[in-house]
Parts: sequence; C-alpha cells; structure tokens
Amino acid sequence: MNTETNVAVDATFKKDVLEGLSSFPKYLYSKYIYDSTGDRLFQDIMKLPEYYLTNSEYEIFQLHKSSIADFFRGLGHGFDLIELGAGDGEKTKVLLEHFINRGLDFVYKPIDISENALSGLADSLRMEFSELEIAPERGEYFEVLQRLGNYDKRKKVIMLLGSNMGNLLHDRAIQFLSQLSENMNEDDLLFMGLDQKKDPQVILDAYNDPTGVTEAFNKNLLTRINRELGGNFDLDKFKHWEVYDPETGTAKSYLVSLETQEVTIAELGETFNFKQWETIHTEISQKYDDAVVEWLAEESGLSIESSFSDSKEYFKNYIFRKK
Ligand code: AVJ
Repeated sequence: MNTETNVAVDATFKKDVLEGLSSFPKYLYSKYIYDSTGDRLFQDIMKLPEYYLTNSEYEIFQLHKSSIADFFRGLGHGFDLIELGAGDGEKTKVLLEHFINRGLDFVYKPIDISENALSGLADSLRMEFSELEIAPERGEYFEVLQRLGNYDKRKKVIMLLGSNMGNLLHDRAIQFLSQLSENMNEDDLLFMGLDQKKDPQVILDAYNDPTGVTEAFNKNLLTRINRELGGNFDLDKFKHWEVYDPETGTAKSYLVSLETQEVTIAELGETFNFKQWETIHTEISQKYDDAVVEWLAEESGLSIESSFSDSKEYFKNYIFRKK
C-alpha cells in the first residue's frame, strides 16, 4: 500500500471515530474491525461450532456446485468472476475447483479491503490451483464498484458470500445493490449468500460464543483505536453484548461500558465520557427471508433468477440478474 492511501484511510478512520463517539447513542463502524488481528479473529469465528453460517454455505456449494456452474457458464463464452470481500476464500475454493475440473473459461478476481487477507489468498490459490487465472485487487466495495465499469469485455459474475451484505441496513443495502445493478449488463449475474431468519436462539448463540472469540473480535475496534489513534480504552471495562430482533431480523452488537469512565484519544485531541452501562453500537448482521430479498431486489433493479439452500435452510445463496 502506498503512503498516500495510508494517509487517506487514516483521515477517514479518524473522522469516523470522532463522529461515532461524539454521537448519541455512540457507534463505531464494523468495517474497522478488519486489520490483520481482526482478519485472524474472523477466521477463528468461522471455525466456531456456533457460527453456522460458514458451514451452511459450504454445504450449499457442495450440494449445488454443478447447477451453480451451469448458471455462471451460461452460453459458454467465458466470464470474469469478481468476488467482493473474498477474505480467506476457503468456501470459494469449492466452486473454483469444480469450475476448473469442468474446464470453465474464467478469470477469478478477488477483491478485499484487507491487503493481508488478499495476499494470503493469492498465495494459497497459486499453490492449490496452478492453472487458475487470478487478478486480485485491494479496495472497499463501493470504491471498487466504480472501477467495475471497465470490466466490460465479457460476462461478469459478481459474488458476495458469507452474508457480508448483512452489515448494511436495508436502505444502504438498496443503495449498494442499485450500484451493482447499474454496473451490470444483461448477461451478468450477481451471486449472493444471505443468512436466513431462523430460531432466534441459534442466531444469538452464533454471535455470543462462550469462548469469547466474538467478544475479542468486537473489541478489536478499541484495540485499533488505541494503537492507531493513541487511545487509552481499557478493554476490560467494556463487555460484548448481542441482541437479535426476530421481527426485523436484525442482530446488533454492542460494547457496554461497565463503569463511568473517560477515554482519551490523543490523535483526535478529545476525551469521551462514558456513563455506566452506556453503549457503543458496533455491528449489525441482518437476517433475511425470501420476501425481504425479493423486495430488496425489486427496489434495486434486480430480479431473483434462482436460489440454493442448505439442508437445514439456515442460509441461502441467490442468483440475481439485472431487471
Ligand atoms: C463477516 C459480516 C458476515 O455479521 O456474521 C461474525 C461478521 N461478526 N461474528 C457477520 C461477524 C460477529 C460477519 N460478517
């Protein structure tokens, strides 16, 4: 990463932290969880027995890879497979392997905000699939979307797995999907994994593991502020709290201040006051059903072409087309 980008990232990080901690109620954006520690903690989360999302999507790929390949392949003129938020790509490898075995003509273009995740992924892909053509790119979804316009030479398949869109509330999800659809041509597909509404206890347990990995993941926001912005958050004075509303399907993460305290962030030249039990809202993880997904698609100029689910119907992968 060059210095210019670093400074720019830094400036938005500062501004977002200042705004979030000056607001009432306080909030911080979950995208800032993902530095190299955050990436590692998320990989640990994916291995938790409670975090069913990863295994469900994995099962969907095992069960349905051949129909998925048929949709992606289409008329067989080849395609660019663009994955937004590729992360460690473990699940994607199931599909990639199948596509390679079937001799599909495609280039894999993983995109991630984390340089660290991306270079790890590229290395492991080169080792496992020497014949795979890969073109990684670092960036944020919205920023990369604008560059997608240049990706127009042949059919595009845009992938967003793991219910990553769940971090956006519906109005921002519609903005996001609309931008995607504006960058799609008639033949292009959007392939998206979205976690489904289910027994609320199952959802709550997934974000509230007894080993504390999710807590550490959530608190990595504070660690980052301490390190990068000279903050003095005492991590032991906050507790991770998760709620799930089965009516709206929204799971929300908080950090709750266990006592009245002051936190100083040197780089911001500011001190923030916390009352006892005051909250910082850190993340939303939206859960969906078909009706909501149809509505989101409709609002964004997309239509659902097909969908696939796991045996428990915990998770679904949808194929969308431009309307
Ligand atoms: C990577 C955004 C899909 O919301 O389920 C996991 C992140 N947060 N445990 C999710 C997360 C707490 C995850 N996403």
